[in-house]
Amino acid sequence: MGLFKKKPKAEKDRPVPRHIAVIMDGNGRWAKKRGLPRQAGHKVGAETFRTIATYCKDIGVQYFTVYAFSTENWKRPPEEVDALLDLFRKYLKEAAETMFERGVAVRVLGDLSPLPPDILELIRETGEIADTLGPDAATASLCINYGGRDEIKNAVRALAKEVEKGSIRPEDITEGDISRHLYTAHMPDPDLIIRPSGEIRTSNFLLWQSAYAEYYFTPVLWPDFKTADMDEAIDAFNKRNRRFGGV
Ligand code: IPE
Ligand code: IPE
Ligand code: MG
Repeated sequence: MGLFKKKPKAEKDRPVPRHIAVIMDGNGRWAKKRGLPRQAGHKVGAETFRTIATYCKDIGVQYFTVYAFSTENWKRPPEEVDALLDLFRKYLKEAAETMFERGVAVRVLGDLSPLPPDILELIRETGEIADTLGPDAATASLCINYGGRDEIKNAVRALAKEVEKGSIRPEDITEGDISRHLYTAHMPDPDLIIRPSGEIRTSNFLLWQSAYAEYYFTPVLWPDFKTADMDEAIDAFNKRNRRFGGV
């Protein structure tokens, strides 16, 4: 019966943003509602990441970027931080094994210096495999120990060093120079930023890059976020009128 039932063409062929970013929030509340430890919410949230990243690739989204751990998240109890690091281990290992066949380049963005050496090694390995996929492969970026202010501070430091060396004059520094010193240097700015869980704030995510992003907020908690929620966000995005300051 379902044999001839095809997805409606209009739905499959609708335009999709080139770069979608998600603040993966609400894992803790999802677990609390079920009387489970917060870690259980992170585990299901990581599954959601896998499902939604695959879906984005399937519908033709070129860049999918998620906020997985902020520079402020170290304030959480050590057992929660450890559980999150364990999930990064698990998913990076999986990425290294399957990236080639799935055709999605997995990248990690953020200040990686405080991460444990084995995770750094996994990030290096996945980065190497991602490089072999070439520039046209869909990219899924995980922001780990990422902070928008921290990122801009690092860019300012790098540019200050170049000024000190005499390779650039302060008056010649352009917006493009700043963009090129961010973790996202190799990708376009996000078109659509989604925040689930009902919070209406950026929490230090992609501060520079979000200048003209469209925001989409939904009360759905990240572990409950389904492909249909992504469709809704994209439909809302497609109805927006982006003017970029023009008329
Ligand atoms: C997002 O879920 C995951 C991380 C910040 C690592 P939370 O853990 O913030 O979930 P809530 O906001 O407490 O529900
Ligand atoms: C933002 O969520 C960071 C991530 C989703 C990784 P938080 O839960 O840390 O943000 P706040 O504390 O509610 O602003
Ligand atoms: Mg939260």
